[in-house]
Amino acid sequence: MPIKIKWQMSHNPNFNPVVSEGETVTDKQRDYCVKVNAILPDGETPGTTYFYRFLTGNHSSETGRTHTLPDQRVNKIKLAVMSCSKYTAGFFHVYKEIANRDDIDLVLHLGDYIYEFGMGVFGDEDAKALNREVVPRYELNSLEDYRQRYAQHKSDPDSQAMLARHPLISIWDDHEISNDAWRLGAVNHSTDGSEGTFENRKKNAIKAYFEWMPIREPASDNSFIHRSFQIGDLVDLHMLDTRLIGRDQQLSYSNYTGLKTKQKPVHILNKTPKQFDSKQFHQDLLEPNRSILGANQEMWLERRLKTTNATWTVLGQQVMLAPQRWSVTKDLIEQESSEDSQELNMAMQKQTIKPELTKNLDAWDGYPVARSRLYDMVAEHKKKLITLSGDTHFSSAHNLVTASGRFIGAEFGTTSVTSPSFWDDVKINKIELEKRQLDFNEGMQFLHLRNRGYLVVEIDHEKAVGKWHLIDDVKTENYKVWLEQTLVLEGSKKDGLI
Ligand SMILES: [Fe+2]
Repeated sequence: MPIKIKWQMSHNPNFNPVVSEGETVTDKQRDYCVKVNAILPDGETPGTTYFYRFLTGNHSSETGRTHTLPDQRVNKIKLAVMSCSKYTAGFFHVYKEIANRDDIDLVLHLGDYIYEFGMGVFGDEDAKALNREVVPRYELNSLEDYRQRYAQHKSDPDSQAMLARHPLISIWDDHEISNDAWRLGAVNHSTDGSEGTFENRKKNAIKAYFEWMPIREPASDNSFIHRSFQIGDLVDLHMLDTRLIGRDQQLSYSNYTGLKTKQKPVHILNKTPKQFDSKQFHQDLLEPNRSILGANQEMWLERRLKTTNATWTVLGQQVMLAPQRWSVTKDLIEQESSEDSQELNMAMQKQTIKPELTKNLDAWDGYPVARSRLYDMVAEHKKKLITLSGDTHFSSAHNLVTASGRFIGAEFGTTSVTSPSFWDDVKINKIELEKRQLDFNEGMQFLHLRNRGYLVVEIDHEKAVGKWHLIDDVKTENYKVWLEQTLVLEGSKKDGLI
């Protein structure tokens, strides 16, 4: 049955006076979600804070707060950046922290807002004790499945508090659909037909996403989430889709070794290089048309870079852009391996992990030609670039440098809200590994593997400052939060982060 909903906006939390109001209808077709493209009356100033609420019968919703984007001169902006919020893995302390901060202008969620997994797959060992088991308990596939999972996330009090307090800009990553998705499939989607077609699953996932997430529905094709936000003369923010719309299938090291391996940051264990068909691998990796954005999105981005001229260009996107290799050897082992990390520890003991085989092929490292095209585009249009990325479940920062050695900007990587890191179960000296990685990876300026948390990016016309806030425990109600790292990118500097 359709339900009539009244909405109101005001400059004041007591809604006196109401600035704009209207009526809308929702029904089962959109899972009883409500989305309003509110029109403000003439005379309202851009860059204003509003309170909003929904009314039906005698009921009123909680009051939400949002801001309109400023135009013209903007002196500074503060973004809170996050990714990877697995419900079963712990409490959304990050959301609570951000809800309690009054100084945030915009919240960016870079994807893995939900996970499609059923119980017993990843990061849910303590879910029962924490009363955070997911519904449905099985892997999502139907529209109803995805809807139920979003409804559960939206019922979380910390999630509600954050969304009531700040405007959210979101993009999906793979887990909003299925693990390691690309444009025509996913690692976690069977090709034997037992899970139906990927196209159908994607359609279900996307419909639920547009119902439940605060994102405008494109007029025609709702598979588009790449879009731009102009924050006055300070920031052109371009949110990208590196996941679904144009991504070619990930390469898999296992196809070049004859081995079946799980998708891990360290993919090939116990293998000597001669067993690896390096020539074929590199031929495929460097195939000129190989794309992570797709040709149309690349052209769209190039047009945006050409036609926008704010002080900073910020790319909000899902996966790590900067190159990264791992240097892991047996001297880092701290104790006998746990079951989960046995394979890795055995490989470390034998010192057989080859750094050249540790690229994350699901990140931009798996699409190096597309990355070079992006770097060259940024260099050509003389942009001061900041890229924001998630997905890794650890914190990092990199200088970004073109193949010809030109510094074009920096990447700030946020850790996860709750999702465990691959490194959590690996019994090695992580502090030493972090240090070693900085020496080993040219351009890497910061790495912290040990905690969940979020990133705040403060931008003014002179500089962009990244602040990594970490949390000691997401599995206890009480927790500590601290500022782990601050890095500054000065707009006038030509050689990197300080
Ligand atoms: Fe994730």
